[in-house]
Amino acid sequence: MAEIRIRNTEERIKGEENVRAFLNQQEVLYEHWDASKLSTELQDKFVLSDEDKAAILSTYESEINDLAGRRGYKTWDIVALSDATPNLDEILKKFEEVHTHTEDEVRAIIAGRGIFIIKGTDDVGYFDVELEAGDVISVPENKPHFFTLMENRQIVAVRLFIEPAGWVAQPFQDPSFQK
Ligand SMILES: [Fe+2]
Repeated sequence: MAEIRIRNTEERIKGEENVRAFLNQQEVLYEHWDASKLSTELQDKFVLSDEDKAAILSTYESEINDLAGRRGYKTWDIVALSDATPNLDEILKKFEEVHTHTEDEVRAIIAGRGIFIIKGTDDVGYFDVELEAGDVISVPENKPHFFTLMENRQIVAVRLFIEPAGWVAQPFQDPSFQK
């Protein structure tokens, strides 16, 4: 289950209801899918064939269609990152810049872990959302954020888009942000 860390205070927020309430206040959508629906083989696989990807999409077909129907997503795909990914360090370096998009950024974590760093309201400041398999998050358009991996450096996620062009990152210069 996702956990929040508020960077200014080191406060941690745990438990599905608390996490959801905090994220809703910050206008971040948080939902949860049943991670155990996935075959055990795919729960721990980070280099995926086209057949693996098709199996994941078919396992979560009803969840994807439900989310897409409610929120207007038209297209989706699967991203897999791990130490087996060529140039992983370069990819992560590119990720780790605060930026915005003109549409929301949706990620359903299928396996592994990941972390969104998001600029919250002025009273909260930046906070981390640590995600694991089953966690589904949508960061609203124009909300400064970035995404990176956690210590285990491996993740599989479904990405949903209204229009992939909306996902082009606009850099967000913020002198108040501290890594
Ligand atoms: Fe982003």
